[in-house]
Amino acid sequence: MCGIIGYTGPLGAKKILLNGLACLEYRGYDSAGIALYMEDDSIQVIKKTGKVKALKEYCDQTVHKVSHCGIGHTRWATHGGVTDENAHPHRVGHVTLIHNGIIENYHELTEQFHLEGTLVSQTDSEVAAGVLNQLYQGDPLAAIRELLSFLNGSFSFCIMFDDQPGNIYAVRNVSPLVAATTNSGTLVASDLTALIPYTKDYFVVPEEKIVKLSPYKISVYDLDDNFTRISPEIMTINWDTDAAMKNGYPHFMLKEIHEQPEALKKTILPRISQGLPDFSDDGIPDRIFTDCSRIHIVACGTAMYAGMVARALMEPVLRIPVSVTIASEFRYENPLVDEHTLVIVISQSGETIDTLAALRLAKEYGSKTLSIVNVKGSTIARESDYVLYTHAGPEIAVASTKAYSVQLAALYLISCRMSLVRGKYSKEQSQAFLADMLEAIPAIETMLEQKDFIKTTSSHLMDQSDAFFIGRGLDYAFSLEGALKLKEISYIHAEAQAAGELKHGTIALIADDVPVIAIATQQHVLSKLISNIREVKARGAFVILLTKEMAAIDENLADIIIRIPNIDDRFTVFPIAVVLQLIAYYTSVAKDLDVDQPRNLAKSVTVE
Ligand code: M6R
Repeated sequence: MCGIIGYTGPLGAKKILLNGLACLEYRGYDSAGIALYMEDDSIQVIKKTGKVKALKEYCDQTVHKVSHCGIGHTRWATHGGVTDENAHPHRVGHVTLIHNGIIENYHELTEQFHLEGTLVSQTDSEVAAGVLNQLYQGDPLAAIRELLSFLNGSFSFCIMFDDQPGNIYAVRNVSPLVAATTNSGTLVASDLTALIPYTKDYFVVPEEKIVKLSPYKISVYDLDDNFTRISPEIMTINWDTDAAMKNGYPHFMLKEIHEQPEALKKTILPRISQGLPDFSDDGIPDRIFTDCSRIHIVACGTAMYAGMVARALMEPVLRIPVSVTIASEFRYENPLVDEHTLVIVISQSGETIDTLAALRLAKEYGSKTLSIVNVKGSTIARESDYVLYTHAGPEIAVASTKAYSVQLAALYLISCRMSLVRGKYSKEQSQAFLADMLEAIPAIETMLEQKDFIKTTSSHLMDQSDAFFIGRGLDYAFSLEGALKLKEISYIHAEAQAAGELKHGTIALIADDVPVIAIATQQHVLSKLISNIREVKARGAFVILLTKEMAAIDENLADIIIRIPNIDDRFTVFPIAVVLQLIAYYTSVAKDLDVDQPRNLAKSVTVE
């Protein structure tokens, strides 16, 4: 979703803003722009539809004077089409502003402040700029505080006022913003990727506070009568600049697929003590695992599919109900959760708006909340009762890969700890569970070594319009993520089916050459799945079978057979996920698509 960057300091602002926007590209956008406070006290706005690279070329041709203060934005269209006018920054009177989020009452505000006919864009953001301009009487803090009293919705803003040279004001409600003071100026941005070239120390802009960036210092003000100064909590980024670069890989996605063994080690190993899962360093008490009578997992997209795997793993062992709900449904459906429910919220970014709303609702219902989050200090992490951080480092490609694996690892650790403290696993069984889980890491490495073979699948998929993923039990849960991966980056319609369901409708779509990706790693249903494969094969399907090395399978059963190492059935998801990711990746590459930034998608979905 929209990316925000602001800089003021001794260096050239244009370069810093454009580099910052390039770092934020992964969030997803369709236009970009910057506003520079020039040395003659004028504000120059340059904005265009298309990529940051095109904006940079245009700026290099047209902006020759130096500026030391400015704001930049990448826009993911919500209100109004993809046009130069709708791109940010918006400039109304004394105010120049960029915005991420949605102002829900912008129609009412347009009427209330008589803005009809004065606006040049169709955006809710320009309405906010128009209102602020009318409220501004020379006191930025007072005007911004008053603006906030009129706005409904989620937002983060960066604002420059014509008569406040060198100063940038920022404020947020729900939508993310981080800020940092460095030796070479001060910065504010939607996320850390834009800050790491300059500093490792930052703070999360507190909600409903006003932040003022001056060239060498940042002040944070409460909204009380006196605008009391407050000190935000300074945090340290735990990854380095390299982590957010491609490092020789052609795409971030491929790099991130390869980072999975390391990410898993970082997430799992510090949580093993004497061979048992241990969350004492995370401050997660066992009572949340023993005191609940049901578990409700809430998330979106890939994170939700990680939850589906966890459900299939946990419920048969724990013998308590484990439900998984899409966060955008959960928040509006009067969910069946209460003080006896452990609500597990999963989010890579920690900022997904629906997941955040679901978390808040679960807390209102009195549930204990445990979040699994990758981004330190993100809103979901801060608002949950307990947080189990995954340590994947920054995930830049829109398609989640390493985040999925580490979310699974966190869920598997939780499952093991819960089974132990609820008496479902003995100490020895828990130790064996973890030892078996660690075998998944070399299994992933083995599959990465086979990437050239896995790549051959892409020539069968690239010209197809549909693909089907089938599996049973845990394999069905894995196939859901496989289908999402393929559709989001290759634009092939992909559908996951519990294999036993095929005959109840979907098999009507199977005809000559239709690709079916069959996942068969669960021994207890292997023979059933083999029958399902024969059924689709009999109807002409092109079958790509993913199974274990040891599986006794007729080599003619499928057109391509990809074999994973013989690890325990419960952990096959890890190497299978890598195979599914590589299939999607190479298909997207074969179609010459934008792998890392697929059309219409955003990395962090901060609007509903
Ligand atoms: O940041 P989150 O984990 O909350 O994001 C949830 C989904 O938007 C995300 O998993 C999305 O489905 C993936 N980009 C798909 O690969």
